[in-house]
Amino acid sequence: MKIEVKDLTVRFADNNTFQPITAVQDLSLTVEEGEFVCVVGPSGCGKTTLLRVIAGLERATQGVTQIHGSDTMRPDYAMVFQNAGLFPWMTVLENVAYGMRMQASYLRLLWLSVKEGRLLLDKWREVAGPNRYARALKWIERVGLSKFVDAFPGQLSGGMQQRVGLARAFAHNAEVLLLDEPFGALDAQTRLILQDTLLGLWKSSDMTVLFVTHSIEEALTLADRIVVMSARPGHIIAEFKVDFERPRDVMKLRTTPEFGQKFGEIWEVLREEVLTANQQLY
Ligand SMILES: Nc1ncnc2c1ncn2[C@@H]1O[C@H](COP(=O)(O)OP(=O)(O)OP(=O)(O)O)[C@@H](O)[C@H]1O
Ligand SMILES: [Mg+2]
Repeated sequence: MKIEVKDLTVRFADNNTFQPITAVQDLSLTVEEGEFVCVVGPSGCGKTTLLRVIAGLERATQGVTQIHGSDTMRPDYAMVFQNAGLFPWMTVLENVAYGMRMQASYLRLLWLSVKEGRLLLDKWREVAGPNRYARALKWIERVGLSKFVDAFPGQLSGGMQQRVGLARAFAHNAEVLLLDEPFGALDAQTRLILQDTLLGLWKSSDMTVLFVTHSIEEALTLADRIVVMSARPGHIIAEFKVDFERPRDVMKLRTTPEFGQKFGEIWEVLREEVLTANQQLY
């Protein structure tokens, strides 16, 4: 087991009504090593909150979440956000190399403090100076942005920025990849292309993926398993195994009858929750 979420409840204080909002309630989920799991759920059901708690960016009110790392020298997770979350003052190359730069500083500190010698030194060399940039360039090439190495995020389209986000996440070489609707703001065609890119990158890695999306189609295209969340307070109400063959052709897959059938099964469960979530807004 790689990611473990056990009886997670997250409550926020609402500054308008002074009533606490329960975003997530008693949510349990496990993700196996190397698995690709998609979470689908209506807007406001706590998907982002779930990812943020797993990443340690938000605190659980009750329950626990844990990433079971197997290599202490490897970062636990990398995250891709809906709006890419790039540093606007850094070039594409600097953005992609950023995680490694942080890792290098961390290893240098560790080395100074515990002097574990060779192993740390080797690890440090992997992310230090020239190697860091070579590795970043490799990932930039793999997402098709070699011509834009020195561009700043503001000079790129939304789709290109998400490509940088993916390159940065993969270059970080973490054990777990957390993605929060990374393609949500893109047009339908760009979205398909980036889904294909993501599957290609993931195939040659050993990463465990937790991917949040509104879209059943997207989840069916990418996942080994789909978990469906209820309207707020979010918990898991259903789970579907997706056993379409890999490698998947993202364009063709959605024209198959199996795809349509699975879509229907999942929508059956999700529909009520979407309606409930909509009513919660009024
Ligand atoms: N920091 C916060 N303070 C107060 N309320 C919050 C905070 N973060 C989230 N919430 C509330 O928690 C609920 C869940 O929010 P969350 O962003 O996790 O939903 P989501 O499923 O990601 O929605 P979407 O699909 O629209 O991105 C919402 O009602 C939201 O208003
Ligand atoms: Mg969200």
